[in-house]
Amino acid sequence: MKPLAKKILVSIGSISGAVIVGGAAFVGLQLRAFAASTDKVYDVPVPHVTRSSDPPVLARGKHIAESLAPCAVSACHGPDLGGGDTVEIGPLGKFTAPNISAGGLGATYSDGELMRLLRHGIKRDGRSVRFMPSHEFNWLSDDDFAAVISYVRSLPPVQKSNGPLEIGVLGKVLDRRDMIPLDIARRIDHGKIELAPPASPTAAYGAFIARECTGCHGKTLSGGPIPGAPPDLPVPLNLTPHASGLNGWSFDDFRHTLTTGTSKSGKKLAAMMPFAAYAKLDDTEMHALWAYLSSLPPRPFGGR
Ligand code: HEC
Repeated sequence: MKPLAKKILVSIGSISGAVIVGGAAFVGLQLRAFAASTDKVYDVPVPHVTRSSDPPVLARGKHIAESLAPCAVSACHGPDLGGGDTVEIGPLGKFTAPNISAGGLGATYSDGELMRLLRHGIKRDGRSVRFMPSHEFNWLSDDDFAAVISYVRSLPPVQKSNGPLEIGVLGKVLDRRDMIPLDIARRIDHGKIELAPPASPTAAYGAFIARECTGCHGKTLSGGPIPGAPPDLPVPLNLTPHASGLNGWSFDDFRHTLTTGTSKSGKKLAAMMPFAAYAKLDDTEMHALWAYLSSLPPRPFGGR
């Protein structure tokens, strides 16, 4: 081999070696940062909660638990709160919401600790919840959360052990890169939690509800594949008023899609899109969400 060619090969070899070593060091750093952050004990006081057994309060709690803060759906803690379905997302991990009925974790939490978890994403031991999206609905009022807690407490105990919650290396790295939210409490400004204005059919209120769509449809709601997800996972679509999104949809098209799970185009939506929960949004909430989505700047599909 000519000396120059040899020199080039040797330097290519050392460059790729450096890339591998550098890559491993990068991943190692991200994993350590993830572990340190999920080990952190937050100093947030446990609030006081007044539980109620009034039927209107329980009905309000049930409504929220099945729609706005959908704990009681199969993909989350399950309708009986005994634990939900396991969602496997390839290299990101396996996720199962635990049994939070009185037969499970519900028995170990005080009402105040539950309220702190919903508002701040902090568990009983002071550490962050993982995967549980408190940051998407922690704008609900104290009264609404008290109603949810009253409803949760009114359900009978379920004896069922918890399914797996395993976060893969890729899941941890993408969390640290702020591409998917798994380590929740670090994303919440604990000293300054923004609450929604009183419910009204306006974009200002809908902006808060739409936070729940961002986990899948992306921060700008323009859709695109979830980072790190395997190719067979359904791709969240564009919810902005762009030609590749909801341009040309009426409010009735939108409501029909959310309540039936069949899109305007006639397509039956994948079960990953949690329309069972959103089908239960009331008129005010549905109009608010639509007003907000319609007010967004149109963005081409895939910007997330
Ligand atoms: C857990 C992930 C997830 C969440 C959360 C989610 N979606 Fe979706 N959504 C999807 C997926 C995936 C699709 C595409 C399904 C398919 O193509 O079969 C979809 C499709 C849709 C569609 C159909 C669009 C079209 O062009 O046909 C609408 C409308 C929609 N979502 C609205 C919402 C709204 C509004 C929210 C929040 C209140 C929301 N989604 C929250 C995953 C999600």
